[in-house]
Amino acid sequence: MGKVGPVEPPPFTTTRVPDLPIPVPSPPPALYPTWYAPQPASIFPNLSLPSGFIFGVATSAYQVEGATKMEGKGPTTWDWASRQPDFIQDNTTADVTDLQYYLYKEDAARVAAIGVTAHSFSISWARIFPFGVAGSPINQLGIDHYSDLIDYHWSVGVEPVVTLFHWDTPLALVAYYGGFTSPQIVDDFVKYTINIILMMIPPRYTFNEPSVYCGWVGSYPFTMADISLAPGVNSSTANYQCAYNLVKAHAGAVRAFRALNISGEIAYKNNDFIGTAWRSNSTQDAIAVERHAAFGIGLYADPIYTTGDWPDIVKETVPSDYLPRFTEEETKEIAGTADFFAIDAYASQYIAAPPNGIEACATNMSDPLWPNCNSVMLYDSNAGWAVGPSPDPASNSWLQATPQNLRGYLKELQTRWPTDKMFISEFGFDEPFENDRTEMYQITEDATTTNYFMTNLGEVLLAIHEDGIPLMGTFSWGMIDNAEWNYGLEPKFGIQHVNYSTLERTYKRAAYALCKSQHSPTITHI
Ligand code: BGC
Repeated sequence: MGKVGPVEPPPFTTTRVPDLPIPVPSPPPALYPTWYAPQPASIFPNLSLPSGFIFGVATSAYQVEGATKMEGKGPTTWDWASRQPDFIQDNTTADVTDLQYYLYKEDAARVAAIGVTAHSFSISWARIFPFGVAGSPINQLGIDHYSDLIDYHWSVGVEPVVTLFHWDTPLALVAYYGGFTSPQIVDDFVKYTINIILMMIPPRYTFNEPSVYCGWVGSYPFTMADISLAPGVNSSTANYQCAYNLVKAHAGAVRAFRALNISGEIAYKNNDFIGTAWRSNSTQDAIAVERHAAFGIGLYADPIYTTGDWPDIVKETVPSDYLPRFTEEETKEIAGTADFFAIDAYASQYIAAPPNGIEACATNMSDPLWPNCNSVMLYDSNAGWAVGPSPDPASNSWLQATPQNLRGYLKELQTRWPTDKMFISEFGFDEPFENDRTEMYQITEDATTTNYFMTNLGEVLLAIHEDGIPLMGTFSWGMIDNAEWNYGLEPKFGIQHVNYSTLERTYKRAAYALCKSQHSPTITHI
Protein backbone atom coordinates (compact mmCIF):
# COMPACT_ATOMS: atom_id res chain seq x y z
CA MET A 1 0.00 0.00 0.00
CA GLY A 2 1.30 3.44 -0.87
CA LYS A 3 2.61 5.14 2.23
CA VAL A 4 1.43 8.70 2.63
CA GLY A 5 4.51 9.81 4.60
CA PRO A 6 4.77 12.57 7.18
CA VAL A 7 1.71 14.76 7.66
CA GLU A 8 1.83 18.36 8.87
CA PRO A 9 0.09 18.58 12.25
CA PRO A 10 -2.57 21.26 12.78
CA PRO A 11 -1.66 24.32 14.89
CA PHE A 12 -4.40 23.44 17.41
CA THR A 13 -6.51 20.35 18.00
CA THR A 14 -9.68 21.42 19.75
CA THR A 15 -12.91 22.75 18.29
CA ARG A 16 -12.97 26.51 18.58
CA VAL A 17 -16.24 28.07 19.75
CA PRO A 18 -16.90 31.52 18.27
CA ASP A 19 -18.42 34.43 20.15
CA LEU A 20 -21.85 35.14 18.74
CA PRO A 21 -23.09 37.17 17.04
CA ILE A 22 -20.32 37.24 14.45
CA PRO A 23 -19.60 40.89 13.57
CA VAL A 24 -20.32 41.64 9.93
CA PRO A 25 -18.40 44.67 8.65
CA SER A 26 -20.41 47.32 6.85
CA PRO A 27 -20.99 46.54 3.16
CA PRO A 28 -18.55 47.73 0.50
CA PRO A 29 -19.38 50.93 -1.42
CA ALA A 30 -21.00 50.61 -4.85
CA LEU A 31 -18.68 48.92 -7.34
CA TYR A 32 -19.82 51.04 -10.30
CA PRO A 33 -22.18 53.99 -10.86
CA THR A 34 -25.73 52.69 -10.61
CA TRP A 35 -26.47 53.62 -14.24
CA TYR A 36 -23.81 51.05 -15.21
CA ALA A 37 -24.54 48.19 -12.81
CA PRO A 38 -27.12 47.79 -10.08
CA GLN A 39 -26.49 46.96 -6.45
CA PRO A 40 -27.26 43.36 -5.46
CA ALA A 41 -30.55 44.38 -3.88
CA SER A 42 -31.78 46.06 -7.04
CA ILE A 43 -31.29 43.21 -9.50
CA PHE A 44 -34.82 42.60 -10.82
CA PRO A 45 -36.44 44.01 -7.67
CA ASN A 46 -39.85 42.95 -8.97
CA LEU A 47 -38.84 39.27 -9.16
CA SER A 48 -38.42 37.24 -6.02
CA LEU A 49 -36.96 33.86 -5.23
CA PRO A 50 -39.54 31.14 -4.55
CA SER A 51 -40.37 30.56 -0.91
CA GLY A 52 -38.12 27.90 0.54
CA PHE A 53 -35.39 28.76 -1.97
CA ILE A 54 -32.05 27.64 -0.51
CA PHE A 55 -29.30 30.22 -0.51
CA GLY A 56 -26.29 28.04 0.15
CA VAL A 57 -22.52 27.80 0.10
CA ALA A 58 -20.44 24.69 -0.64
CA THR A 59 -17.20 22.99 0.44
CA SER A 60 -15.74 19.48 0.41
CA ALA A 61 -13.91 17.54 3.11
CA TYR A 62 -10.46 17.22 1.51
CA GLN A 63 -10.48 20.84 0.40
CA VAL A 64 -11.28 22.50 3.73
CA GLU A 65 -10.97 20.15 6.70
CA GLY A 66 -7.25 19.71 7.25
CA ALA A 67 -6.57 17.65 10.40
CA THR A 68 -5.58 14.95 7.95
CA LYS A 69 -4.35 12.45 10.49
CA MET A 70 -6.43 13.49 13.49
CA GLU A 71 -9.01 11.61 15.50
CA GLY A 72 -8.66 8.27 13.77
CA LYS A 73 -9.04 9.32 10.13
CA GLY A 74 -7.55 6.91 7.61
CA PRO A 75 -5.53 8.12 4.61
CA THR A 76 -7.28 8.96 1.35
CA THR A 77 -6.09 8.83 -2.25
CA TRP A 78 -5.69 12.60 -2.22
CA ASP A 79 -3.58 12.57 0.96
CA TRP A 80 -1.30 10.23 -0.98
CA ALA A 81 -1.53 11.90 -4.39
CA SER A 82 -0.79 15.37 -3.04
CA ARG A 83 2.70 14.12 -2.15
CA GLN A 84 3.60 12.70 -5.55
CA PRO A 85 6.23 14.61 -7.55
CA ASP A 86 4.99 17.44 -9.77
CA PHE A 87 1.34 16.73 -9.06
CA ILE A 88 0.24 19.68 -6.94
CA GLN A 89 1.14 22.80 -8.86
CA ASP A 90 2.27 24.91 -5.89
CA ASN A 91 3.62 21.94 -3.89
CA THR A 92 1.16 22.48 -1.05
CA THR A 93 -0.80 19.75 0.69
CA ALA A 94 -4.26 19.96 2.25
CA ASP A 95 -2.88 18.74 5.61
CA VAL A 96 -4.01 21.93 7.31
CA THR A 97 -5.77 24.01 4.59
CA ASP A 98 -8.69 25.84 6.32
CA LEU A 99 -8.71 23.57 9.37
CA GLN A 100 -12.48 23.51 9.16
CA TYR A 101 -12.30 20.24 11.10
CA TYR A 102 -11.78 22.40 14.21
CA LEU A 103 -13.25 25.66 12.91
CA TYR A 104 -16.63 24.47 11.63
CA LYS A 105 -18.52 26.39 14.31
CA GLU A 106 -16.97 29.67 13.26
CA ASP A 107 -17.50 28.85 9.59
CA ALA A 108 -21.16 27.96 10.06
CA ALA A 109 -21.79 31.05 12.18
CA ARG A 110 -19.97 33.33 9.73
CA VAL A 111 -22.16 32.32 6.81
CA ALA A 112 -25.29 32.41 8.95
CA ALA A 113 -24.35 36.00 9.82
CA ILE A 114 -24.59 37.08 6.18
CA GLY A 115 -27.89 35.36 5.46
CA VAL A 116 -26.79 31.99 4.05
CA THR A 117 -29.34 29.26 4.70
CA ALA A 118 -27.42 26.07 3.87
CA HIS A 119 -23.91 24.60 3.76
CA SER A 120 -23.25 21.76 1.34
CA PHE A 121 -20.24 19.82 2.64
CA SER A 122 -18.94 16.29 2.24
CA ILE A 123 -18.21 13.57 4.76
CA SER A 124 -14.77 12.02 4.54
CA TRP A 125 -15.42 8.29 4.17
CA ALA A 126 -11.99 7.58 5.71
CA ARG A 127 -13.02 9.38 8.90
CA ILE A 128 -15.90 6.93 9.32
CA PHE A 129 -14.23 3.79 7.94
CA PRO A 130 -10.45 4.36 8.22
CA PHE A 131 -9.92 0.98 6.52
CA GLY A 132 -12.69 1.58 4.00
CA VAL A 133 -14.25 -1.84 3.80
CA ALA A 134 -17.63 -2.50 5.32
CA GLY A 135 -17.23 -4.65 8.41
CA SER A 136 -13.97 -2.96 9.37
CA PRO A 137 -13.99 -0.88 12.58
CA ILE A 138 -16.05 2.31 12.56
CA ASN A 139 -14.27 5.37 13.93
CA GLN A 140 -16.58 6.74 16.63
CA LEU A 141 -14.64 10.01 16.78
CA GLY A 142 -15.52 10.61 13.13
CA ILE A 143 -19.21 9.95 13.81
CA ASP A 144 -19.12 12.26 16.84
CA HIS A 145 -17.41 14.98 14.84
CA TYR A 146 -19.91 15.10 12.00
CA SER A 147 -22.87 14.68 14.36
CA ASP A 148 -21.75 17.73 16.28
CA LEU A 149 -21.05 19.65 13.08
CA ILE A 150 -24.56 18.86 11.82
CA ASP A 151 -26.17 19.89 15.13
CA TYR A 152 -24.19 23.10 15.28
CA HIS A 153 -25.25 24.07 11.76
CA TRP A 154 -28.90 23.62 12.69
CA SER A 155 -28.37 25.62 15.87
CA VAL A 156 -27.21 28.68 13.90
CA GLY A 157 -29.92 28.31 11.24
CA VAL A 158 -27.80 26.79 8.47
CA GLU A 159 -29.13 23.59 6.90
CA PRO A 160 -26.45 20.88 6.67
CA VAL A 161 -26.47 19.40 3.15
CA VAL A 162 -24.43 16.21 3.01
CA THR A 163 -22.48 14.70 0.12
CA LEU A 164 -21.21 11.19 0.82
CA PHE A 165 -18.29 11.25 -1.57
CA HIS A 166 -16.34 14.20 -2.95
CA TRP A 167 -13.40 12.33 -4.53
CA ASP A 168 -11.42 11.43 -1.36
CA THR A 169 -11.48 7.62 -1.60
CA PRO A 170 -10.11 5.76 1.43
CA LEU A 171 -6.63 4.72 0.33
CA ALA A 172 -7.18 1.28 1.83
CA LEU A 173 -9.92 0.53 -0.72
CA VAL A 174 -7.61 1.36 -3.58
CA ALA A 175 -4.83 -0.75 -2.12
CA TYR A 176 -7.18 -3.69 -1.43
CA TYR A 177 -8.92 -3.91 -4.76
CA GLY A 178 -8.46 -0.83 -6.96
CA GLY A 179 -11.18 1.43 -5.51
CA PHE A 180 -13.81 2.47 -8.04
CA THR A 181 -12.19 0.46 -10.81
CA SER A 182 -13.41 -2.69 -9.04
CA PRO A 183 -17.03 -3.87 -8.67
CA GLN A 184 -16.23 -4.57 -5.01
CA ILE A 185 -16.67 -0.86 -4.29
CA VAL A 186 -20.45 -1.10 -4.74
CA ASP A 187 -21.10 -3.06 -1.59
CA ASP A 188 -18.69 -1.01 0.50
CA PHE A 189 -20.26 2.26 -0.65
CA VAL A 190 -23.79 1.04 0.03
CA LYS A 191 -22.84 -0.08 3.55
CA TYR A 192 -21.07 3.23 4.21
CA THR A 193 -24.25 5.03 3.10
CA ILE A 194 -26.46 2.97 5.40
CA ASN A 195 -24.18 3.73 8.34
CA ILE A 196 -24.31 7.47 7.69
CA ILE A 197 -28.11 7.39 7.45
CA LEU A 198 -28.58 5.32 10.59
CA MET A 199 -25.97 7.06 12.70
CA MET A 200 -26.25 10.66 11.50
CA ILE A 201 -28.32 12.10 8.71
CA PRO A 202 -29.85 11.23 5.33
CA PRO A 203 -27.44 12.51 2.66
CA ARG A 204 -28.65 14.84 -0.11
CA TYR A 205 -26.04 13.61 -2.56
CA THR A 206 -24.25 10.34 -3.09
CA PHE A 207 -21.48 11.57 -5.39
CA ASN A 208 -19.93 14.86 -6.40
CA GLU A 209 -19.28 15.15 -10.15
CA PRO A 210 -18.75 11.48 -11.08
CA SER A 211 -17.30 12.28 -14.49
CA VAL A 212 -14.54 14.44 -13.06
CA TYR A 213 -13.76 11.84 -10.41
CA CYS A 214 -13.66 8.93 -12.87
CA GLY A 215 -11.59 11.09 -15.22
CA TRP A 216 -8.86 11.17 -12.56
CA VAL A 217 -8.57 7.43 -11.84
CA GLY A 218 -6.85 6.57 -15.12
CA SER A 219 -4.25 9.32 -14.91
CA TYR A 220 -1.12 10.26 -13.00
CA PRO A 221 -0.55 9.76 -10.13
CA PHE A 222 -3.54 7.49 -9.50
CA THR A 223 -2.29 4.79 -11.86
CA MET A 224 1.13 4.47 -10.23
CA ALA A 225 2.26 1.01 -9.22
CA ASP A 226 1.54 1.32 -5.52
CA ILE A 227 -1.91 2.81 -6.07
CA SER A 228 -3.50 -0.04 -7.90
CA LEU A 229 -6.19 -0.46 -10.51
CA ALA A 230 -8.40 -3.56 -10.33
CA PRO A 231 -7.11 -6.65 -12.18
CA GLY A 232 -7.64 -6.35 -15.93
CA VAL A 233 -8.15 -2.57 -15.78
CA ASN A 234 -5.62 -0.21 -17.36
CA SER A 235 -5.29 3.53 -17.72
CA SER A 236 -7.38 3.54 -20.93
CA THR A 237 -10.27 1.58 -19.46
CA ALA A 238 -10.14 2.84 -15.86
CA ASN A 239 -12.52 5.77 -16.24
CA TYR A 240 -15.19 3.60 -17.92
CA GLN A 241 -14.92 0.81 -15.37
CA CYS A 242 -15.20 3.52 -12.73
CA ALA A 243 -18.33 4.94 -14.39
CA TYR A 244 -19.96 1.50 -14.42
CA ASN A 245 -19.19 0.77 -10.76
CA LEU A 246 -20.02 4.28 -9.60
CA VAL A 247 -23.46 4.31 -11.23
CA LYS A 248 -24.20 0.97 -9.58
CA ALA A 249 -22.90 2.24 -6.23
CA HIS A 250 -25.14 5.31 -6.53
CA ALA A 251 -28.19 3.24 -7.42
CA GLY A 252 -27.49 0.73 -4.65
CA ALA A 253 -27.11 3.50 -2.08
CA VAL A 254 -30.34 5.23 -3.14
CA ARG A 255 -32.28 1.98 -3.09
CA ALA A 256 -30.90 1.16 0.37
CA PHE A 257 -31.93 4.64 1.55
CA ARG A 258 -35.44 4.25 0.18
CA ALA A 259 -35.75 0.80 1.77
CA LEU A 260 -35.12 2.36 5.18
CA ASN A 261 -38.26 4.48 4.80
CA ILE A 262 -36.65 7.55 6.27
CA SER A 263 -37.83 10.81 4.77
CA GLY A 264 -35.43 12.80 2.65
CA GLU A 265 -34.56 13.40 -0.99
CA ILE A 266 -31.41 12.21 -2.67
CA ALA A 267 -29.56 12.63 -5.98
CA TYR A 268 -25.97 13.22 -7.03
CA LYS A 269 -24.16 16.32 -8.27
CA ASN A 270 -23.92 16.45 -12.06
CA ASN A 271 -21.37 18.63 -13.77
CA ASP A 272 -20.55 19.85 -17.27
CA PHE A 273 -22.82 21.64 -19.77
CA ILE A 274 -24.42 20.87 -23.12
CA GLY A 275 -22.88 23.72 -25.11
CA THR A 276 -23.64 25.38 -28.42
CA ALA A 277 -22.17 24.72 -31.85
CA TRP A 278 -18.98 26.72 -32.37
CA ARG A 279 -19.78 27.40 -36.04
CA SER A 280 -23.50 28.02 -36.16
CA ASN A 281 -23.84 26.69 -39.75
CA SER A 282 -21.78 23.52 -39.18
CA THR A 283 -23.58 20.16 -39.04
CA GLN A 284 -20.40 18.60 -37.69
CA ASP A 285 -20.36 21.04 -34.76
CA ALA A 286 -24.03 20.33 -34.09
CA ILE A 287 -23.23 16.61 -33.89
CA ALA A 288 -20.24 17.45 -31.69
CA VAL A 289 -22.63 19.14 -29.23
CA GLU A 290 -24.60 15.89 -29.01
CA ARG A 291 -21.38 13.97 -28.39
CA HIS A 292 -20.40 16.43 -25.69
CA ALA A 293 -23.79 16.02 -24.03
CA ALA A 294 -23.60 12.21 -24.25
CA PHE A 295 -20.04 11.78 -22.97
CA GLY A 296 -20.40 14.56 -20.39
CA ILE A 297 -23.63 14.81 -18.42
CA GLY A 298 -25.38 12.03 -20.35
CA LEU A 299 -23.04 9.23 -19.30
CA TYR A 300 -24.24 9.60 -15.71
CA ALA A 301 -27.63 11.28 -16.18
CA ASP A 302 -29.20 8.99 -18.81
CA PRO A 303 -28.91 5.85 -16.65
CA ILE A 304 -30.35 7.56 -13.60
CA TYR A 305 -32.84 10.11 -14.96
CA THR A 306 -34.15 8.65 -18.21
CA THR A 307 -33.31 5.33 -19.89
CA GLY A 308 -31.51 3.35 -17.20
CA ASP A 309 -28.76 2.87 -19.77
CA TRP A 310 -25.71 4.57 -21.26
CA PRO A 311 -26.39 7.08 -24.07
CA ASP A 312 -26.53 5.45 -27.54
CA ILE A 313 -23.67 7.61 -28.84
CA VAL A 314 -21.45 6.26 -26.08
CA LYS A 315 -22.45 2.64 -26.72
CA GLU A 316 -21.86 3.05 -30.44
CA THR A 317 -18.33 4.33 -29.83
CA VAL A 318 -16.94 2.64 -26.73
CA PRO A 319 -16.58 -1.17 -26.75
CA SER A 320 -18.02 -3.20 -23.89
CA ASP A 321 -14.60 -4.33 -22.64
CA TYR A 322 -14.02 -0.65 -21.85
CA LEU A 323 -17.51 0.22 -20.65
CA PRO A 324 -19.48 -2.79 -19.39
CA ARG A 325 -23.13 -2.86 -20.50
CA PHE A 326 -25.94 -3.04 -17.97
CA THR A 327 -28.13 -6.14 -17.86
CA GLU A 328 -31.87 -5.63 -18.09
CA GLU A 329 -32.15 -6.12 -14.37
CA GLU A 330 -29.43 -3.56 -13.64
CA THR A 331 -31.17 -1.08 -15.92
CA LYS A 332 -34.34 -1.43 -13.85
CA GLU A 333 -32.41 -0.99 -10.63
CA ILE A 334 -30.66 2.14 -11.83
CA ALA A 335 -33.45 4.08 -13.57
CA GLY A 336 -35.22 6.58 -11.36
CA THR A 337 -32.66 6.62 -8.54
CA ALA A 338 -32.75 10.39 -8.03
CA ASP A 339 -35.39 12.65 -6.53
CA PHE A 340 -34.22 15.90 -8.15
CA PHE A 341 -31.59 17.23 -10.56
CA ALA A 342 -28.48 18.95 -9.21
CA ILE A 343 -25.99 20.65 -11.50
CA ASP A 344 -22.64 22.23 -10.74
CA ALA A 345 -23.25 25.03 -13.24
CA TYR A 346 -19.95 26.87 -13.49
CA ALA A 347 -19.95 27.82 -17.18
CA SER A 348 -21.32 26.95 -20.63
CA GLN A 349 -19.24 27.37 -23.76
CA TYR A 350 -18.96 26.38 -27.45
CA ILE A 351 -18.35 22.89 -28.82
CA ALA A 352 -16.47 22.10 -32.04
CA ALA A 353 -16.02 18.91 -34.08
CA PRO A 354 -12.49 17.48 -34.49
CA PRO A 355 -10.53 18.96 -37.44
CA ASN A 356 -10.48 15.57 -39.20
CA GLY A 357 -14.24 15.13 -38.80
CA ILE A 358 -16.33 13.16 -36.32
CA GLU A 359 -16.49 9.91 -38.27
CA ALA A 360 -12.70 9.63 -38.65
CA CYS A 361 -12.25 10.28 -34.93
CA ALA A 362 -15.04 8.06 -33.61
CA THR A 363 -13.81 5.02 -35.54
CA ASN A 364 -10.13 5.41 -34.62
CA MET A 365 -9.28 4.51 -31.04
CA SER A 366 -5.86 6.12 -31.37
CA ASP A 367 -7.27 9.50 -32.37
CA PRO A 368 -6.29 11.97 -29.62
CA LEU A 369 -9.94 13.06 -29.27
CA TRP A 370 -11.39 9.51 -29.20
CA PRO A 371 -13.95 8.63 -27.94
CA ASN A 372 -15.62 11.98 -27.19
CA CYS A 373 -14.59 13.50 -30.54
CA ASN A 374 -15.39 17.10 -29.64
CA SER A 375 -13.56 20.09 -28.17
CA VAL A 376 -14.72 22.85 -25.86
CA MET A 377 -14.03 26.27 -27.43
CA LEU A 378 -13.52 29.28 -25.18
CA TYR A 379 -13.79 31.90 -27.94
CA ASP A 380 -16.12 32.48 -30.86
CA SER A 381 -15.47 31.32 -34.42
CA ASN A 382 -15.92 34.78 -35.98
CA ALA A 383 -13.51 37.21 -34.41
CA GLY A 384 -12.08 35.09 -31.61
CA TRP A 385 -13.81 36.92 -28.75
CA ALA A 386 -13.85 35.08 -25.42
CA VAL A 387 -17.13 33.52 -24.27
CA GLY A 388 -16.63 35.46 -21.05
CA PRO A 389 -14.10 36.96 -18.67
CA SER A 390 -11.23 34.68 -17.61
CA PRO A 391 -10.68 33.40 -14.07
CA ASP A 392 -7.30 32.92 -12.42
CA PRO A 393 -4.81 31.35 -14.88
CA ALA A 394 -4.99 28.13 -12.84
CA SER A 395 -8.56 27.52 -14.04
CA ASN A 396 -8.54 29.10 -17.47
CA SER A 397 -8.52 25.79 -19.31
CA TRP A 398 -12.20 25.34 -18.45
CA LEU A 399 -13.77 28.23 -16.60
CA GLN A 400 -15.15 31.56 -17.82
CA ALA A 401 -17.91 33.83 -16.55
CA THR A 402 -20.77 32.98 -18.92
CA PRO A 403 -24.03 34.18 -17.31
CA GLN A 404 -25.48 34.99 -20.74
CA ASN A 405 -25.57 31.23 -21.43
CA LEU A 406 -27.05 30.09 -18.11
CA ARG A 407 -30.73 30.16 -19.09
CA GLY A 408 -30.13 28.22 -22.30
CA TYR A 409 -27.99 25.75 -20.35
CA LEU A 410 -30.71 25.12 -17.75
CA LYS A 411 -33.37 24.81 -20.47
CA GLU A 412 -31.28 22.15 -22.22
CA LEU A 413 -31.01 20.20 -18.97
CA GLN A 414 -34.73 20.44 -18.38
CA THR A 415 -35.48 19.22 -21.91
CA ARG A 416 -33.11 16.28 -21.78
CA TRP A 417 -33.53 15.16 -18.15
CA PRO A 418 -36.84 16.67 -17.02
CA THR A 419 -37.25 17.24 -13.31
CA ASP A 420 -39.67 19.00 -11.01
CA LYS A 421 -36.90 20.23 -8.74
CA MET A 422 -33.50 21.53 -9.75
CA PHE A 423 -30.59 22.91 -7.72
CA ILE A 424 -27.45 24.68 -8.80
CA SER A 425 -25.37 22.59 -6.43
CA GLU A 426 -22.19 24.60 -7.12
CA PHE A 427 -21.25 27.67 -9.13
CA GLY A 428 -18.31 29.97 -8.63
CA PHE A 429 -15.22 31.66 -9.94
CA ASP A 430 -11.61 32.13 -8.89
CA GLU A 431 -10.65 35.77 -8.98
CA PRO A 432 -7.81 36.40 -11.48
CA PHE A 433 -4.40 36.75 -9.82
CA GLU A 434 -5.88 37.11 -6.34
CA ASN A 435 -3.04 35.02 -4.96
CA ASP A 436 -0.60 37.73 -6.07
CA ARG A 437 -2.41 40.44 -4.13
CA THR A 438 -0.84 41.32 -0.82
CA GLU A 439 -3.07 43.96 0.77
CA MET A 440 -6.41 43.03 2.28
CA TYR A 441 -8.22 45.88 0.50
CA GLN A 442 -7.04 44.36 -2.81
CA ILE A 443 -7.92 40.81 -1.84
CA THR A 444 -11.44 41.61 -0.69
CA GLU A 445 -12.17 43.61 -3.87
CA ASP A 446 -12.98 40.51 -5.96
CA ALA A 447 -14.79 42.43 -8.67
CA THR A 448 -14.82 39.74 -11.38
CA THR A 449 -16.16 37.13 -8.97
CA THR A 450 -18.77 39.57 -7.66
CA ASN A 451 -19.92 40.25 -11.22
CA TYR A 452 -19.98 36.49 -11.88
CA PHE A 453 -22.32 35.86 -8.95
CA MET A 454 -24.58 38.87 -9.46
CA THR A 455 -25.08 38.26 -13.17
CA ASN A 456 -25.66 34.53 -12.73
CA LEU A 457 -28.15 35.16 -9.93
CA GLY A 458 -30.02 37.65 -12.09
CA GLU A 459 -30.27 34.96 -14.75
CA VAL A 460 -31.44 32.47 -12.11
CA LEU A 461 -34.35 34.81 -11.37
CA LEU A 462 -35.21 35.02 -15.07
CA ALA A 463 -34.85 31.25 -15.49
CA ILE A 464 -37.37 30.74 -12.69
CA HIS A 465 -39.84 33.43 -13.73
CA GLU A 466 -39.60 33.45 -17.52
CA ASP A 467 -38.49 29.93 -18.41
CA GLY A 468 -40.30 28.00 -15.70
CA ILE A 469 -37.17 26.20 -14.52
CA PRO A 470 -37.99 24.67 -11.13
CA LEU A 471 -34.85 25.98 -9.43
CA MET A 472 -35.07 25.68 -5.66
CA GLY A 473 -31.61 26.71 -4.56
CA THR A 474 -28.06 27.75 -5.38
CA PHE A 475 -24.82 26.88 -3.61
CA SER A 476 -21.83 29.10 -4.20
CA TRP A 477 -18.39 27.63 -4.37
CA GLY A 478 -16.85 28.22 -2.09
CA MET A 479 -17.73 29.17 1.39
CA ILE A 480 -14.02 29.97 1.94
CA ASP A 481 -10.78 29.76 -0.05
CA ASN A 482 -9.62 26.13 -0.08
CA ALA A 483 -7.29 23.49 -1.51
CA GLU A 484 -8.12 23.42 -5.22
CA TRP A 485 -7.06 19.83 -5.97
CA ASN A 486 -3.93 19.64 -8.14
CA TYR A 487 -3.65 23.45 -8.19
CA GLY A 488 -3.13 23.60 -4.44
CA LEU A 489 -3.85 26.75 -2.48
CA GLU A 490 -3.26 29.31 -5.26
CA PRO A 491 -6.68 29.65 -6.93
CA LYS A 492 -9.08 31.61 -4.73
CA PHE A 493 -12.65 30.42 -5.13
CA GLY A 494 -13.78 31.57 -1.67
CA ILE A 495 -16.31 34.28 -0.94
CA GLN A 496 -14.16 34.61 2.17
CA HIS A 497 -10.39 34.98 2.26
CA VAL A 498 -8.38 32.66 4.51
CA ASN A 499 -5.05 33.81 5.90
CA TYR A 500 -3.03 30.59 5.79
CA SER A 501 -0.77 31.71 8.64
CA THR A 502 -3.43 32.71 11.15
CA LEU A 503 -6.44 30.86 9.62
CA GLU A 504 -8.42 34.07 10.01
CA ARG A 505 -11.37 34.44 7.61
CA THR A 506 -12.38 37.75 5.96
CA TYR A 507 -15.51 38.40 3.90
CA LYS A 508 -14.81 39.53 0.34
CA ARG A 509 -17.10 41.76 -1.72
CA ALA A 510 -18.66 38.66 -3.36
CA ALA A 511 -19.98 37.52 0.02
CA TYR A 512 -22.10 40.65 0.19
CA ALA A 513 -23.29 40.38 -3.39
CA LEU A 514 -24.44 36.86 -2.77
CA CYS A 515 -25.91 36.85 0.59
CA LYS A 516 -28.48 39.59 0.59
CA SER A 517 -26.88 41.01 3.69
CA GLN A 518 -26.97 44.48 2.24
CA HIS A 519 -30.72 44.55 2.40
CA SER A 520 -31.56 42.21 5.21
CA PRO A 521 -32.74 44.17 8.25
CA THR A 522 -31.86 41.25 10.51
CA ILE A 523 -28.13 41.63 10.01
CA THR A 524 -26.23 44.00 12.22
CA HIS A 525 -23.16 45.59 10.73
CA ILE A 526 -20.30 46.87 12.80
C1 BGC B 1 -15.65 20.74 -7.67
C2 BGC B 1 -14.93 21.44 -6.55
C3 BGC B 1 -13.91 22.39 -7.12
C4 BGC B 1 -14.62 23.42 -7.98
C5 BGC B 1 -13.72 24.48 -8.59
C6 BGC B 1 -16.05 21.67 -8.78
O1 BGC B 1 -15.95 20.98 -9.97
O2 BGC B 1 -16.74 20.01 -7.17
O3 BGC B 1 -14.34 20.48 -5.72
O4 BGC B 1 -13.13 23.00 -6.15
O5 BGC B 1 -15.24 22.75 -9.03
O6 BGC B 1 -12.81 23.93 -9.48
